[in-house]
Amino acid sequence: METGAIPVITIDGPSASGKGTVAQLVAEKLAFHYLDSGALYRLIALIAIRSNTEPTNESAIANIALHLDVNFDGSSIRLNGENVSDAIRTEACSKLASIIASQPKVRNALLQRQRAFRQLPGLVTDGRDMGSVVFPDASLKIFLTASAEERAQRRYKQLIEKGINANIQSLLQDIYERDTRDSNRDVSPLKQGVNTKLLDTTLLSIEEAVNEVLRLYDQICKN
Ligand code: CDP
Repeated sequence: METGAIPVITIDGPSASGKGTVAQLVAEKLAFHYLDSGALYRLIALIAIRSNTEPTNESAIANIALHLDVNFDGSSIRLNGENVSDAIRTEACSKLASIIASQPKVRNALLQRQRAFRQLPGLVTDGRDMGSVVFPDASLKIFLTASAEERAQRRYKQLIEKGINANIQSLLQDIYERDTRDSNRDVSPLKQGVNTKLLDTTLLSIEEAVNEVLRLYDQICKN
């Protein structure tokens, strides 16, 4: 079977919109594979921090991307065998991930690795450019968003639940900064692409958002 015939649902959107949670649950419901593309950028950021690699050294950062030894094992992410699921979620990693994600060499280095996740019976993936660049022929493309204030609240709750100290005002500031950087970069900027359904979850529960994606996918399957 050609990979193009394997169904893909892409869920792109801004920081802390809940796209990761929704994508994971949709994948579970459909028994599809799941790719958290943001985790790849976060992993590169983590390695750069640990190895004192200058973020502006594009070739060195792309080299890290090419040689990532990562294993997605359910909800845990392993780097050279070490569980780094929490280490990649710190604010320092989030910030650096967004900075290095604007480098074309890094994005190119990750392209084939991301496409390799397209396996039967199907794939659900979330990120910024999953529908526009990585899987332009996806069966269903969603742009999932929520107001910046609501996203800051969600991120705050998530961090506090994990026992990580957080401040709502600085989270909101980070979200504004990251939105601006993600939307204004030259390569793969964050925006709602063509043939992409807008899903604003400001007033929706996770379950309602998941059901909406499943409904849209069901509609496509029937046509
Ligand atoms: O959780 P959050 O949405 O803040 O971040 P994420 O999805 O884990 O992605 C981390 C960073 O990687 C984002 O700030 C994006 O700049 C970048 N990214 C990207 O450029 N392209 C993707 N497909 C996924 C993430």
